[in-house]
Amino acid sequence: EKGGYDYFMLKEIAEQPKAVADTLLGRIGADGQLTLDELRISDAQLRQVDKVVIVACGTAFHAGMIAKYAIEHWTRIPCEVEVASEFRYRDPILDDRTLVIAISQSGETMDTLMALRHAREQGAKVLAICNTNGSTIPRESDAVLYTHAGPEVAVASTKAFLTQLVACYLVSLYLGQVRGTKWDRETFGVIELLGHAPHQVEQVLRTMEPVRELARSLADAHAVLFLGRHVGYPVALEGALKLKELAYMHAEGFAAGELKHGPIALIEHGLPVVIVVPSPRGRAVLHDKIVSNIQEIRARGARTIVIAEEGDEAVAPYADHLIRIPATPALLQPLVATVPLQVFACELATAKGHEVDQPRNLAKSVTVE
Ligand code: F6R
Repeated sequence: EKGGYDYFMLKEIAEQPKAVADTLLGRIGADGQLTLDELRISDAQLRQVDKVVIVACGTAFHAGMIAKYAIEHWTRIPCEVEVASEFRYRDPILDDRTLVIAISQSGETMDTLMALRHAREQGAKVLAICNTNGSTIPRESDAVLYTHAGPEVAVASTKAFLTQLVACYLVSLYLGQVRGTKWDRETFGVIELLGHAPHQVEQVLRTMEPVRELARSLADAHAVLFLGRHVGYPVALEGALKLKELAYMHAEGFAAGELKHGPIALIEHGLPVVIVVPSPRGRAVLHDKIVSNIQEIRARGARTIVIAEEGDEAVAPYADHLIRIPATPALLQPLVATVPLQVFACELATAKGHEVDQPRNLAKSVTVE
């Protein structure tokens, strides 16, 4: 049942190209227009939406953070994202023009369920992005967009996360389509490039041996930091979460611009720091700023593990370890940048002798609040 892999997690990491392809399947027409037939909220209602609020937990929350960048950029609708467990306790402002998006692999997470119930009580429309057919969260929502990752067995979420990203991109692009925002050549280009994602994820998976080697060599590290900017920031948080839950290590993700506001004090000789570098084409200013961050931390002794786009030569001199990912539009980079972090955490945890499919103290679905 593990398909020849030692762990479900390895199998599920390897299944990501197919999971992404299956989630895209049938949703992009030949004309580049999107059809999302399970979305039972009318286009007229979607045109009325004046705010999007995303609620989710853990890894699904990180997908939601990335969705915020896409939704605001492509649709110009203000978007908030919040961990579901905090949501209903702060008396959030919601009404019938609010679209709430609840993201959950299992569809049974109690925190997310309680958040969506609260939202519906206030009159908001709820769209679930979910991987489990007929589970509670989609049953209680106004609409559902299923991710087609297939069953995810390993406790740490991998393929579900990539498909959540795909679903979030599709929803953002669809909102843009029905509202006529950003529906230009650039957006058409993005849709086409989204179609290349399965192939690009495959490409990343084929080059992971050096990442595994590096992870094994870091099995005795005390801590690992992760830095990113723009959509690379949630990717950094996700890399840190994977390492915490699997390797039981102190791992922390930061927005790279925050370094100077405190975290840089943590940098000491030999500390491994993973940096997710934005594309030099798409986000040139951020790219240059993060290159200076890398220089700064390296000057203070950090061991820099740099994830950068192919052809990004500016960053290479400051990378102790360079992990290459294919070029993508800026917003889509998490689809490829997350994969090495999953492999890294899985391999490092295995090297420490931990059972990666069943990390201590964790359950696959958290059905208590
Ligand atoms: C981390 C992980 C958890 C889940 C979270 C939400 O690898 O798996 O953080 O993402 O518990 O679960 P779902 O998506 O089922 O609501």
